[in-house]
Amino acid sequence: MRNSHIEVTPMAGALGAEIGGIDLGEPMDDALFEGVRAALNEHLVICFRDQKLTPERHKDFGRRFGPLNIHPHYRPLDGHPEILPILKEPEDAGNIGGGWHTDVSFLERPALDSLLYALDVPTHGGDTMFANQYLAHETLSEGMRDMLAEMSAIHSDAILSRPENKAKANSDRSTELKEEETTEEVENRHPVIRTHNETGRRCLYVNRHFTKRFDEMTEAESRPLLEFLYEHAVRPEFTCRIRWEKGTLVMWDNRCAQHYALNDYQGQRREMHRVTVEGSRPR
Ligand code: SIN
Repeated sequence: MRNSHIEVTPMAGALGAEIGGIDLGEPMDDALFEGVRAALNEHLVICFRDQKLTPERHKDFGRRFGPLNIHPHYRPLDGHPEILPILKEPEDAGNIGGGWHTDVSFLERPALDSLLYALDVPTHGGDTMFANQYLAHETLSEGMRDMLAEMSAIHSDAILSRPENKAKANSDRSTELKEEETTEEVENRHPVIRTHNETGRRCLYVNRHFTKRFDEMTEAESRPLLEFLYEHAVRPEFTCRIRWEKGTLVMWDNRCAQHYALNDYQGQRREMHRVTVEGSRPR
């Protein structure tokens, strides 16, 4: 396929679009690349079907959006530190990303985009859900929006860095956390409402995996309002759902979308490669 035009087909009311006419294994000129970036900014999650990508080509496409992140906790693909293999074998009970979150929000400069490529998929199940955090922000009352606009929250990597959490996760998952490395818990403070640095739109930026508490409040004090926000952020009408096929590449914008990898395919295999683009400090 020669890359000459882009076809964009929305997949749900809230977010998500299928992108046709593009072979990610072929060169893409700047005009076409800007079309892809514009589609991502408009739809937050974009899905390319029937791709054939080597790890090198996968990384090359990711690098067009910015420098690649090396995950601090997961063991990378051999020879490719920037690729996080997300593998669930038939005998594994746990999966990676089985809860609503945005990638590595505990870092000072959390992820911009993630690009997930499907190598092996179950016959059914293993879908990924996404939720639009612009809508989550816009549908709050004015009073709540004004209050949250003044607040920050502490994000932590405790679920990945505490030795007891690593050991438990590694006992039922093939994708491994590096147990031989002990690291201090990483915490960073981010605004609860962030402004997207390309679209200028505001979105809610807290997630159940990594947000620990509001700044200058205890975890107990923070919990009731955080619980309300976590539930509100993923209302069904803010979501879309990706049904994976072998060769599908899905790219999402972690600034304004949360995601959730469903773990509903026990006894089947699912293998993905994820490349993650580094972001800037949320503002
Ligand atoms: C993740 O990046 O959280 C995993 C997503 C997936 O495997 O669908």
